[in-house]
Amino acid sequence: MEQQLAKLQTNTIAAIGKTKTINDLKDLEVNILGRKGKLTEILKGVKDLTAEQKPTIGKLANEIKTTLENEFEQKAKKFKLIELEKQLLEEKIDVTEPGIKAAFGHVHPLSQVQKEVEDIFNSMGFSVMDGPEVESEYYNFESLNIPADHPARDMQDTFFIKQAPHKEHGHLVLRTHTSPVQIRTMEASGAPLRIIVPGRVFRYEATDATHDATFDQVEGLMIDKDISLSHLKGVLTEFLSRLFDYQVKIRFRPGYFPFVEPGLEVDFSCRFCAGSGCRVCKKTGWIEFMGAGMVHPNVLKAGGIDSEKYQGWAFGFGLTRLVMMRYNINDIRHLYNGDLRFIKQF
Ligand code: PHE
Repeated sequence: MEQQLAKLQTNTIAAIGKTKTINDLKDLEVNILGRKGKLTEILKGVKDLTAEQKPTIGKLANEIKTTLENEFEQKAKKFKLIELEKQLLEEKIDVTEPGIKAAFGHVHPLSQVQKEVEDIFNSMGFSVMDGPEVESEYYNFESLNIPADHPARDMQDTFFIKQAPHKEHGHLVLRTHTSPVQIRTMEASGAPLRIIVPGRVFRYEATDATHDATFDQVEGLMIDKDISLSHLKGVLTEFLSRLFDYQVKIRFRPGYFPFVEPGLEVDFSCRFCAGSGCRVCKKTGWIEFMGAGMVHPNVLKAGGIDSEKYQGWAFGFGLTRLVMMRYNINDIRHLYNGDLRFIKQF
């Protein structure tokens, strides 16, 4: 039996060495040390041994059992290590792989162009002014020479705020243009003045591809001694040529706005056909751009400026339209509905 046991030990150790997988090892273990395993099988013969033999063999059998258990454990550990190594290899992190980009916002196309406009006018000595979007009827209309019964009020129908009217300044309205800031700045700073006023304005208007109830304008105002329309022409030629990056020509046509006299419509030469006429300028060679004119004496008076000493011009153009022209945007609503698929293109 001693020999049997010794043989079992050598054979089992050899077999353990040959196992290729943890499952093979487990099977082998059951086969040798399990309840119906080979060791148990051999030990069944113990009952036939003599009384002296029994303790020696019993001791030997226990030793072999411990040795084998140990061998199985060692080999199992090896398998686990190999498994772990494999896992680690598979799980490797490639630090050179590109990361996940953080989502950054960026400046809205309207604000981008507004900034360019401000920079150009700044460089010509104009300050950028601001004013309230909720205005009084007085600043939006009366002070600008548009009395209550004036038909020009119909051209700029607006939204009224539900609130009892102020004694002198009338109802509160959403401003229909940036022109009220002309009066506010005259009141606050007096002459001379060189300002532009970019800002949001509102009209009671049906929405379509080229009209929205909300849009953006830029007002311009220059007041000093001996100011004439030639200064306006010079400033606008410089402004548009720099903004659009080609030598722009300016054309004045008569126009009517109650707060200027004479009043003008200002066009500039079409970039696409250089004046010869194309689809963009509707075959005229000119793009209609804005209203302007010499500030009406009544407006200077409302602003507290002596119209005998000072005169000046004002203009107002649609920043929204400028952005649409700049980027060839065919629907104004894209600029105000906050759709990221649109915004991300700028
Ligand atoms: N406020 C006018 C408008 O919104 C534009 C304008 C401004 C015209 C200044 C003349 C002078 O239509």
